Amino acid sequence: MPPDTDRMRAMVSVFADEATKAGFGQVTPPMFEDIGVFVRLGEATDVVTKELYSFEDKGGRTIALRPEQTASLCRVFVEQRPLTPWKAWYYGANFRYEASQKGRYRQFDQVGAEVIGSADPDLDTELIALAARFYERLGLRNVRLMVNSLGDPADRAAYTEALRNYFTDNVADLTEQSQETLARNPLRVMDSKREPDQAIIASAPTLADFLSSEAAAAFDRVQAGLKVMNIPFDIEPRLVRGLDYYNRTTFEFAAESLDAAQNAVGGGGRYDGLVANLGGPDEPGIGFALGVDRTLLACDAEGVMGAPATNPQVWIVAATAGVEGIAIVDRLRLLGLRADKAESSKSMKAQMKRANKSGADVAVIIGEDELARGEASIKPLRGQGDQHSVPIEQLETAVQEYLE
Ligand code: HAM
Repeated sequence: MPPDTDRMRAMVSVFADEATKAGFGQVTPPMFEDIGVFVRLGEATDVVTKELYSFEDKGGRTIALRPEQTASLCRVFVEQRPLTPWKAWYYGANFRYEASQKGRYRQFDQVGAEVIGSADPDLDTELIALAARFYERLGLRNVRLMVNSLGDPADRAAYTEALRNYFTDNVADLTEQSQETLARNPLRVMDSKREPDQAIIASAPTLADFLSSEAAAAFDRVQAGLKVMNIPFDIEPRLVRGLDYYNRTTFEFAAESLDAAQNAVGGGGRYDGLVANLGGPDEPGIGFALGVDRTLLACDAEGVMGAPATNPQVWIVAATAGVEGIAIVDRLRLLGLRADKAESSKSMKAQMKRANKSGADVAVIIGEDELARGEASIKPLRGQGDQHSVPIEQLETAVQEYLE
């Protein structure tokens, strides 16, 4: 509802502006895909096993509503084969069957950006900077950036094995859900936000000790880039993301003004194997998505990103038998003003009452007397000034002068 819809639209337009400046073109992937596209997100992730909204369509295909858009972007890349590196941004709704609560919804909006076709670590830095500058432009000051490297698949396999051994040794102290997760994917246990798991997670081995020299060098370069750009960050060796496709650089933004369980306002990372996994060429990829609903909550908490003005600037009170009122509204809107009127059938008095409640700066009044003289009256609704008449041909100029 307004004003939040107005604020969300403004937020998306700031993102569009930042992404356009950085050379990204907008893509609008479909809301639903063949379920196979999303299964590639990781068969051991909650997003796929528990949270997909899927159904059979009339043609007998199994379709799922998108839980995110990265997989669709990769699918689009495989089909269209645009010039690489391909830079695309997107906006729209996603669906996950989650336990809904404040900041966690079954339908939520994301803005995001992806680059497919380059392994250059400077791109990782560029993407992180795009997200960080977006938050800055909204006026958010308490968003913490965490970065980590998940290494290459071999590093990750060795690390996963070390985690499996560690958590198995401590299995009795894990929550039941994490014990279940451990059987499927030990890495996911690191992602648990449940309090009883925290002590065990805090002492778990970290991936930094398992990185290949190439992965470590790429991660150093990302950090050097962020430092040069003066973008503050924390290395968070325990940051694993909720989806399985990541390797090397991963990152997350946490709004410190929100409750810890829902404070991730955005996140992303490299997914060098995903395009190939979807049947495409072996092209690397990196990207992120930011939660629009959650970012708005963070803006509320920090008292930034107020609603853009949507109140009418001019309110027309037309008590004539003809269509003068609607003609004036149209002329003022053509000038670019926010102009509105009450129903013509209402009395002058009722229309004036509505004008006073409208939030408009000024009212334009036209009754049979004014019409006969070829005039309209201008009545300030806020601030200084008296009601005065102007010739109808000079109405636009008079209203504009008043609003200045
Ligand atoms: P994700 O971390 O699953 O990543 O989601 C990104 C952001 O979407 C989260 O940080 C959060 O702000 C928001 N979000 C996720 N689930 C919900 C929900 N149920 N209710 C409200 N907000 C939510 C991805 O989606 C990846 N596709 C990001 C990415 C792009 N990685 C590479 N490229």
